[in-house]
Amino acid sequence: MNKNMTSQIIDIIIFGATGYTGQCVVEQCARINNFSWAIAGRNVNKLREVLTNIYTKTGKDVTQVEIIVADVDDQKSINAMTKKGKVIINCTGPYRFYGESVVKACIEEGIHYVDVTGEPEFMEKMQLKYHDLAKTSGSYVVSACGMDSVPADIGVIHFMKNFNGQVNYVEAYMALTVNTNKIVEPFLNYTTWESAVHALANMNSLRSIRKQLFSKYDIVKLLPSIPRRSVIHRSELCENKYCLPFQGSDRSVVLRTQMFLTKEWNLRPIQCNVYLVCRSAFTLCALLIIGFFLQVLSKFEFGRKLLLKYSHIFSLGVVSRNGPTAESRQNSLFTMKFYGEGWSKDMLKEKDDLKTISEPTDSYMVTAVEIPDAGYGFTSICAVQCALIILNEFDKLPPGGGVYTPGAAFYRTSLIETLAENGFQYKILHTGHK
Ligand SMILES: NC(=O)c1ccc[n+]([C@@H]2O[C@H](COP(=O)([O-])OP(=O)(O)OC[C@H]3O[C@@H](n4cnc5c(N)ncnc54)[C@H](OP(=O)(O)O)[C@@H]3O)[C@@H](O)[C@H]2O)c1
Repeated sequence: MNKNMTSQIIDIIIFGATGYTGQCVVEQCARINNFSWAIAGRNVNKLREVLTNIYTKTGKDVTQVEIIVADVDDQKSINAMTKKGKVIINCTGPYRFYGESVVKACIEEGIHYVDVTGEPEFMEKMQLKYHDLAKTSGSYVVSACGMDSVPADIGVIHFMKNFNGQVNYVEAYMALTVNTNKIVEPFLNYTTWESAVHALANMNSLRSIRKQLFSKYDIVKLLPSIPRRSVIHRSELCENKYCLPFQGSDRSVVLRTQMFLTKEWNLRPIQCNVYLVCRSAFTLCALLIIGFFLQVLSKFEFGRKLLLKYSHIFSLGVVSRNGPTAESRQNSLFTMKFYGEGWSKDMLKEKDDLKTISEPTDSYMVTAVEIPDAGYGFTSICAVQCALIILNEFDKLPPGGGVYTPGAAFYRTSLIETLAENGFQYKILHTGHK
């Protein structure tokens, strides 16, 4: 059904359109406005209000935009919603609670699915449980199409495609700055914090899902290994600032993409680590304190209640129940720098099997991308562009449908160029021989 959809079917349905992220996605659709779109959620009055606000903000005529009522607690309503569209952009979260029924309905109805989750357990569970079913129905299910984890995942793909030879490893360093006179400016909406608290509480179940999922891949030890860094290290790449391993979904998404590329297209997988750069020693201490609260308190129910009830306090002010202010979004800049090493083409001439290269690497490259308003502006643009690519570049997706990371789904598409056209360009800063 998905490939022969009639023209009356709506191109994109934004589910969870009343949420903070959902409204940003609606705004993007209204601004682009060269495809049909509808909004969906559980509260019709709130949905009407969203359209009124979008009209005030953009001046675009939204009177023809259909409103669809659907609630994740009512599976029939979710299936009825998905039947009306070609791609659903799911903006309800935490995804561990609200995501699966939408994925399931999309696959049952042969519809495509995009979301902006940063929850590895949800993504990997969906891949484990639904990949084969999605292949049967021809649905594409692509998670993590926002700030988590497109900059990192597509950044590594950009690196692979532009490196003059074979990449061995990439280290990604991410930094977020909010240019403000205040000591702290909230830049995260409460639901993202809630998602993180539950993700940390359920690390054991992630391990068990991961074990089952990864057993389907032939994982080989790659040499030379990616450098091992101490938990806190300083990086010359980032003006010698303090760096910590990033605890979010980026690394796991990149590695899943690499496993896919190896399995399906026999490419040598790229080792990757992702680090968070701290602006100052003060920021480092603040992050360690927040991390400590999250790690310790998320492990038991009363602790989770405290973390959720007093999110503003435990996040040291970066989380707000009203979402980040327009000012903090405007003044925020996310940068991701990639340093990687590999073997130049000249050196590889004699090689037949790329997986067994044991000689030291001889070349390096540094790339970077800068993203203003990454959490919500970039996330919403990226989600819409990913949905449009599914519609417009269907023949460049991995054949037959399935549950994918962005890098796996969009490896052959124009996503890198599309991001550049929208102001998010990956740049090559240096290349050289070691
Ligand atoms: N990865 C990234 O870079 C990134 C960026 C932004 C957001 N996110 C993720 O996106 C998710 C949403 O974040 P947010 O800040 O937009 O959250 P939010 O403002 O709280 O919005 C949540 C949405 O889910 C809807 N919802 C909740 N329960 C529902 C149900 N039973 N049936 C139907 N809809 C339901 C809400 O509808 P009502 O309005 O009716 O309550 C609302 O539309 C979170 O998981 C967050 O982590 C990720």
